[in-house]
Amino acid sequence: MERTFLMVKPDGVQRGVIGDIVARFERKGFQLVGAKLMQVSRELAEQHYAEHKERPFFGELVEFITSGPVFAMVWEGENVIATARQMMGKTNPQEALPGTIRGDFGLTVGKNIIHGSDSKESAAREIQLFFKEEELVSYSKLM
Ligand code: CMP
Repeated sequence: MERTFLMVKPDGVQRGVIGDIVARFERKGFQLVGAKLMQVSRELAEQHYAEHKERPFFGELVEFITSGPVFAMVWEGENVIATARQMMGKTNPQEALPGTIRGDFGLTVGKNIIHGSDSKESAAREIQLFFKEEELVSYSKLM
């Protein structure tokens, strides 16, 4: 079954929307298989955002993601990578539609509430970066 990595960023944690975000993915029918509230180190942030290393906003990105606790999660379900990105809305909250997470809660592209893997390859990479195998569970969904 497909898995994705989702992370409520420091602004989402501060705004108190972890519960709302988790509820959206639960209601949709996805399954939570790993989660933790954690402080991202500079080293982990640089690894996570390695593909953006040359971008002018890289420093800002690392500063922000290490500025306070994040809520890291692994979700499982059919087509969860693409569907979660639809539910998150566009990267820039000003372009994200109402009804999406960023459309409902976000204001600026730097502080856009949530991160989600954009492909199977990034999902695999990000999950192993943030979670040890034994921190993830596997269980059958009864409904
Ligand atoms: P995320 O999905 O975490 O992946 C990369 C992040 O870079 C993205 O969300 C945005 O928060 C951030 N980002 C993208 N463009 C800009 C920008 N122009 N200025 C600052 N941050 C940006």
